[in-house]
Amino acid sequence: MTKTGNIVILTGAGISAESGLSTFRDENGLWAQHRIEEVATPEAFARNPARVHRFYNARRKQALHAMPNAAHHALTELQQKWPYDLLLVTQNVDDLHEKSGSRAVHMHGALMRALCAACAHRWDSPADLSVEDTCPACGAHTARPDIVWFGEMPYHMQDILSALQNCDLFAAIGTSGQVYPAAGFVQEALSAGAATVELNLKDSDMSYAFQDQITGPASETVPQWVGRLLSQA
Ligand code: OAD
Repeated sequence: MTKTGNIVILTGAGISAESGLSTFRDENGLWAQHRIEEVATPEAFARNPARVHRFYNARRKQALHAMPNAAHHALTELQQKWPYDLLLVTQNVDDLHEKSGSRAVHMHGALMRALCAACAHRWDSPADLSVEDTCPACGAHTARPDIVWFGEMPYHMQDILSALQNCDLFAAIGTSGQVYPAAGFVQEALSAGAATVELNLKDSDMSYAFQDQITGPASETVPQWVGRLLSQA
């Protein structure tokens, strides 16, 4: 089912998988190789900042060389041509939406940015961020990746919730539906009377909540779905 009108699109790690970036919860995903409690919480950073930096430095280096795939490009075309409001929200911390020319709201932060844990100043991250780095604003040795860790508040929630309350179509692409608040966006959209569609390789934890499902690799399903939407606009 598709409906013309305002659209909110949520993307997850699955959209970047065919660009060579690891997902989190698939077989051999990042959380099969690393413990969340050791690399993705404020407590982990307080205990062992060097280990946390190593983890995100590796992610950043992978992302620096990755190129957007057909799914990212299709969303860029949709964002450029769609005649109504379209908010692209991503849980991804890579910059593949931007590399393809889209504007995306990064609710879980951005690998390419650094954040001062002391004064909240943000700046472009070097490829390797370390405990030696000082904040350009306050000079403290408190540089951290600008990533929303478990236990922290995702960014831009006000704007996202307001777009969901005013949307006619909500699409979730390549996300397992296991991490809130993003996993709850489909319910927000349904409450607003929106049509909902999930695009994924397989069923997710939230599949039951979506009215429509499109199954397959994002590089194939997203361009086809975008083509159908634009032909109806
Ligand atoms: P997950 O790794 O949990 O889920 C990836 C989803 O993508 C799965 O549902 C796969 O079936 C699907 N998938 C994999 N390859 C695909 C492909 N080629 N085409 C379409 N779908 C594909 O990743 P997220 O749902 O993004 O947060 O994870 C959410 C959050 O959990 C992340 O932002 C991260 C993580 O912990 C933080 O680090 C705060």
